[in-house]
Amino acid sequence: MATLRLAFFNAKGGCGKTTLAWNLAFGLARRGNTLLLDADPQGSLARWGAWSEEGGTGIAVAGSEQLSATLPASLRYLVIDCPPALDAPQTQQALALADVVLLPVLPSPLDLWASQRSVEALLQLQERRSSLRAALLINQSEDRSALSRAAEQAVGTLGLPVLPIHIGRRAVYRSAAIEGKSVYQMGKRGAAAVAEIEQLIEEVRK
Ligand SMILES: Nc1ncnc2c1ncn2[C@@H]1O[C@H](COP(=O)(O)OP(=O)(O)O)[C@@H](O)[C@H]1O
Ligand SMILES: [Mg+2]
Repeated sequence: MATLRLAFFNAKGGCGKTTLAWNLAFGLARRGNTLLLDADPQGSLARWGAWSEEGGTGIAVAGSEQLSATLPASLRYLVIDCPPALDAPQTQQALALADVVLLPVLPSPLDLWASQRSVEALLQLQERRSSLRAALLINQSEDRSALSRAAEQAVGTLGLPVLPIHIGRRAVYRSAAIEGKSVYQMGKRGAAAVAEIEQLIEEVRK
């Protein structure tokens, strides 16, 4: 079976690319051979991955040099965490590799404006490559707030489809990261987060 190649991209920092790539990769690794690729030349995720492997809970993490390497035939899922830069060569390489690009956005007006250029870059890419799937993913949503609902409507105006599932704002994403773990290794505390990451997996595998 071909490798499904997913990239998390938004030139805006702090919207959840690394957090979501990390946790999604752990969920996918339960289904098949998965590689998490840290496309940021700073390589912080690659270090985090090595540290997590020492703790015995790791998944395979590669650095940006792997962007131009041949993928092993046995690889089922590739998850790429893009650097927060539109024009970085690593971003361009990552987007060229991807079958599916997810753009995390926070449901706040400032964040949406800051994401506009990234959305436009993807729309341009899709003009040249119509098979490229791209969608916005609302992260850190707070379900019951009217503000969040208004922001969700605003996300819909950016120009790309919005995934029907949201990722909630949950302390366990932060605490898992501090422990070098994913939400899958957090027991009961991670259950709600695991459930939404599983929903995300079902969405991207459609
Ligand atoms: N769903 C979430 N709930 C709570 N905290 C989150 C969530 N997603 C991300 N964070 C936190 O927000 C910060 C920025 O996330 P990060 O994944 O580093 O963004 P990016 O890679 O886009 O710069 C981190 O401190 C991370 O722990
Ligand atoms: Mg990051």
